[in-house]
Amino acid sequence: MTRARLLVAALALGGCRAAISDANYDRSALAPAGPAARILAQLGLPVLVGFVVASLVLCGLVVWLGWRRTGRFDEHAAVSAGGGFGWMLVGGFVIPGVVFVALFVATLGVLDAFPMADHVKPGRAAIRVVGHQWWWEVQYLEGDLQAHFTTANEIHIPTGRAIELELVSADVIHSFWVPRLHGKVDLVPGIANHIRIEADHAGRFEGACAEFCGLQHATMRFVVVADAPPDYARWLAHQRQPAEEPTDAAALRGRDVFQSGACPMCHAIGGTTARATVGPDLTHIGSRLRIGAGWLTNDVASLHAWIVDAPALRPGVQMPPLTMFTGVQLHDLVTYLEGLK
Ligand code: CUA
Repeated sequence: MTRARLLVAALALGGCRAAISDANYDRSALAPAGPAARILAQLGLPVLVGFVVASLVLCGLVVWLGWRRTGRFDEHAAVSAGGGFGWMLVGGFVIPGVVFVALFVATLGVLDAFPMADHVKPGRAAIRVVGHQWWWEVQYLEGDLQAHFTTANEIHIPTGRAIELELVSADVIHSFWVPRLHGKVDLVPGIANHIRIEADHAGRFEGACAEFCGLQHATMRFVVVADAPPDYARWLAHQRQPAEEPTDAAALRGRDVFQSGACPMCHAIGGTTARATVGPDLTHIGSRLRIGAGWLTNDVASLHAWIVDAPALRPGVQMPPLTMFTGVQLHDLVTYLEGLK
């Protein structure tokens, strides 16, 4: 049985592509695309250059020492312990002192200019991000209760506007990091952290968990999609709708497979009786760029493999291998899910 399962998974995995090397997603902190990241880069870049120069000088001194070495210990008298005090004073106190005081003052400037979230008025957050082992729940909280909706592993924001995020955790400490938009901020159980992110231009910005949180920490990815305000408004309006009724026969059968199987025990699909919140909300899963917390491209092959044996793709995930489906059932199920645009 296990061998058969492995074989099925291996065959399905053949079609899988890890999305992580996708060149469309930028993740360099030195190429900021928003105010918060820009302020950090203004300090980060000089510090990086300065420390590289200091390292080169140190390496140069070591090489120079080796170069000027003449003779061996047994050929020379013991070196006097005195002398060299000037070197120690300048290299050990004066230079580090000047560097650290300058860094401290510059850091105070960065702290002062950093766009902080509004802590004065709690409950203002437009989006709440909940860290789970190992995926991101994204709750949109703007408007009245009927307008709220939940998605996963993909955060859409409009360009040119600061968006307040509330960061919380459902289990252990995670860390929210979108290098081109903001520095790392922890998601701590029982504590809500608030940040403000803003994107200058439309684009897809890679995000990742930056705090070790267990087996799949390294694959706990997400993407921030920044769209021009009209595009964002369209996306928002569509996400607020319940899942579309499938029209073709395979998708209709797939919906039955979903509803009668184990799926509704963990997942929700808006407009159906599936309401569980253990795993990601799947209402518009077909519209997302990736699956498996940003680890795999969202296509038929990845979805097949994920359903059949998710733990083979990301060992430790809660989703069990679902090997009870026939080939036709699996095909119908994937057709249904991919159709949930
Ligand atoms: Cu979540 Cu590391």
